[in-house]
Parts: sequence; structure tokens; C-alpha cells
Amino acid sequence: MAKRQNSEFEIRGINHLALVCKDMERTVRFYRDILGMPLIKTIDLPNNSGQHFFFDIGNGDSLAFFWFPNAPEACPGLASPGGLPGNPAFVTAHGSMSHVAFNVPAKKFDEYYEKLKSKGIEVSPILNHDNSETQVSRTVHPGVFVRSVYFFDPDGVCLEFACWMREFDESDVAHAPVNAAGVKAVAPASRQVSLAPQAPS
Ligand SMILES: [Fe+2]
Repeated sequence: MAKRQNSEFEIRGINHLALVCKDMERTVRFYRDILGMPLIKTIDLPNNSGQHFFFDIGNGDSLAFFWFPNAPEACPGLASPGGLPGNPAFVTAHGSMSHVAFNVPAKKFDEYYEKLKSKGIEVSPILNHDNSETQVSRTVHPGVFVRSVYFFDPDGVCLEFACWMREFDESDVAHAPVNAAGVKAVAPASRQVSLAPQAPS
């Protein structure tokens, strides 16, 4: 990836992303035993209020899970996707966690796709994302910028294995962001967008 500096904070990737599971035993079986992520920290929360476990996802980053005795049931289609990308049920609520993509080496992507399937995980087709009209390609070509495969964890958390295929440049930042009404701002997208507070609507 092209190196672009954050002038405000020295952010070093993800310390941890915390999710909520229904069954910590099942979560450990999936993330540690099937996906191979080392379990690096476990916590019993005080007063029997739950558990908090951390899995190493490489690069010094981790994926964490809470288990709460009184957690509401999963809410697919609202708190998490009700279907994989391409399915209308992929849309979720404002502020929800759509999916988490793990970075994998490009040269191992196809091998890992087969390995996920051989482990009994139901995976999406491979999506080679490009800038064509359909935004995906059956084949890998120089315009493909990321390759992706999607699947669910046992709680319906949507996961992705992804690999970058090329560096980005100025031409990759070509779209103005829409506002809440879906209208695009007039400022060039490649400039930093002002985050001035908006008047309440
Ligand atoms: Fe993604």
C-alpha cells in the first residue's frame, strides 16, 4: 500500500476489535482450532458478569470476544449482515459492524480458499474487485485491487479473507462522499473532507 501519513495521530493498525459471542467454547473452537488464531488472553469478568477473550490475528493486532450472561440474541439484518455480499440482506444498521477482513498473502489466497472449504466452512465465491461496471472479475488482472472471500462465524459475524493486489494512487480516490440523503458533496473527494458539525435535521 502507498504510504500516506496520519498528521494527527500515530495509529498502528487495530489493537483489538471486540465482538460478542453466544458460546465462548464454540468461539474458541472456531477461531483457535479451525482458523488457527492463538488464544492470547482470557479474562473472567468480575461478579460473574461474563468473559473477555483475545485471539492473535497477526501483525500485533487481535480479535476479542465478550460473553455476557444476559446478552440479547443475534439480530441479523440489523446488528450483523443477514447474508453475504451480493445478498440484499447484507445491509445493516447505522453503527453496526458489517464484517471484518483479515489480511492474507496474495500468493496464498487460492490455497486458503480451498483450505477454508476443506475445513467445512461455507464460503462465498472468490470476488476479484476491480473498477469495471460490475466491480468484480472472474479472473485476476492488473486492475484487480483486492481479492476477497466471505464467510460467517458461528454467531453470524461476517468475516473476510482479503489480499491487496496493487498500490493505490490519487486516481483511486475519485468519489465525493454522499450525505445522509444520499447526495454527493461538491468538494473534490481527493481533498480532506471537512467534518464540521451539521445542523440537526
Ligand atoms: Fe471487505
